[in-house]
Amino acid sequence: MKELIIEQTENYVRNELGEDATGHDWFHIDRVRKNALHIWQYEKSGDPFIIEMAALLHDIPDEKLNTSAEMGDLKLASFLKTIPLTDEDKDHINQIIKSISYKGGRKTELVSIEAKIVQDADRLDAIGAIGIARAFAYGGKKGQPIYDPKFSVREEMSLEEYRSGKSTTIHHFYEKLLKLKELLNTTRAKEMAEIRQNMMESFLTHFFQEWNGKV
Ligand code: ADP
Ligand code: NI
Repeated sequence: MKELIIEQTENYVRNELGEDATGHDWFHIDRVRKNALHIWQYEKSGDPFIIEMAALLHDIPDEKLNTSAEMGDLKLASFLKTIPLTDEDKDHINQIIKSISYKGGRKTELVSIEAKIVQDADRLDAIGAIGIARAFAYGGKKGQPIYDPKFSVREEMSLEEYRSGKSTTIHHFYEKLLKLKELLNTTRAKEMAEIRQNMMESFLTHFFQEWNGKV
């Protein structure tokens, strides 16, 4: 039964997100699911079925992919209605998805180990080699420059700059991606993040060397 529900959910998500080019495509979802199940195998805690379901559905209500946050919630709720699970399981999946998003650094208390694992899995996919690729894909789609030294990092922005909402993809590393490692919950995800962090740091070192006409 659980296998069938997973299959039904995969088909639904593939159909909903397949064509997205902002980094929320089906392959992102599939990597988050794989990361999450990998972490679960090390942590040996939490319900792997709930983890897999929440990982598969985690981007369905995302504001960026819906006309509004409310429409996103509604979309997830309507899908959950179609699957044969207890209300308790559906509430848990819903609550995990609600609690894991990183919106301007907002901190939400993660109540369950399942939520912690899925959040780590999603954050891992924003760092390392994949994270670099996703950041530039997103920046390209938004028409954002690769880098421009005239911009400041968010913490040092003038009000005018902040209001314009303009930044560069290299700035996104300093504003968010390099900080994600410190926000991880599980031991296994922290270990995985070490290698990915080194990858990003080395990328940035080379980027600036090349930018300045060295090496
Ligand atoms: P997620 O689905 O992992 O929660 P987001 O919705 O925040 O992530 O963003 C999707 C992808 O786009 C991530 O890889 C993220 O790093 C990247 N991204 C988001 N905002 C920016 C930005 N301003 N510049 C470059 N990349 C960005
Ligand atoms: Ni995601």
